Amino acid sequence: MNNLVIRQADETDIDAIARLEEICFATPWSRESIRQELTENKLAFYVIAELDGEIVGYAGMWLVIDEGHITNVAVLPEHRGKHIASAIIAVMIEFTEGQGIKRFTLEVRSSNEAAKGLYRKFNFKEEGLRKGYYQDNGEDAVIMWRDPSEPLKN
Ligand SMILES: CC(C)(COP(=O)(O)OP(=O)(O)OC[C@H]1O[C@@H](n2cnc3c(N)ncnc32)[C@H](O)[C@@H]1OP(=O)(O)O)[C@@H](O)C(=O)NCCC(=O)NCCS
Repeated sequence: MNNLVIRQADETDIDAIARLEEICFATPWSRESIRQELTENKLAFYVIAELDGEIVGYAGMWLVIDEGHITNVAVLPEHRGKHIASAIIAVMIEFTEGQGIKRFTLEVRSSNEAAKGLYRKFNFKEEGLRKGYYQDNGEDAVIMWRDPSEPLKN
């Protein structure tokens, strides 16, 4: 049986998120940055995905007035392709829209086809480029905004 739960993250999740960062990103956020996000940053909203009790994914968003800025989304490699990230994004958008967030945006590496595909599924469109944004390899960041007139699809 696969039981997927999407819930708000709290400080007991710091280690699990740090582990996901290490596994999923070339330049992971430090444990200290994650701790600050979960305990000090009043604009931050983080969610966790638990599959049969195991933390397998997470995502974060900064709520800036009426805009939601997605900071990170990650799913453990062995659990990708099961629509777990889609479930996370759907819950985040639905919940934060209920809190008054009207527009959503993010930056993604131009080579990250999986992430761009995920965001396109939620009606994010490529609307700009930050040239050489990523310091590790000089890659461009694609700026995506979600078309607010489109309903959520999942
Ligand atoms: C991006 C990521 C979060 C997607 O997680 P996931 O749970 O596998 O995604 P889903 O199963 O919900 O897929 C949603 C959609 O994304 C797209 N997608 C997912 N993986 C893809 C891949 N490898 N290639 C192309 N498109 C892909 C598809 O459009 C998919 O929809 P579909 O299955 O209906 O066709 C995951 O690959 C990951 O953790 N990557 C490393 C971290 C990262 O790059 N995060 C994003 C930058 S912040």
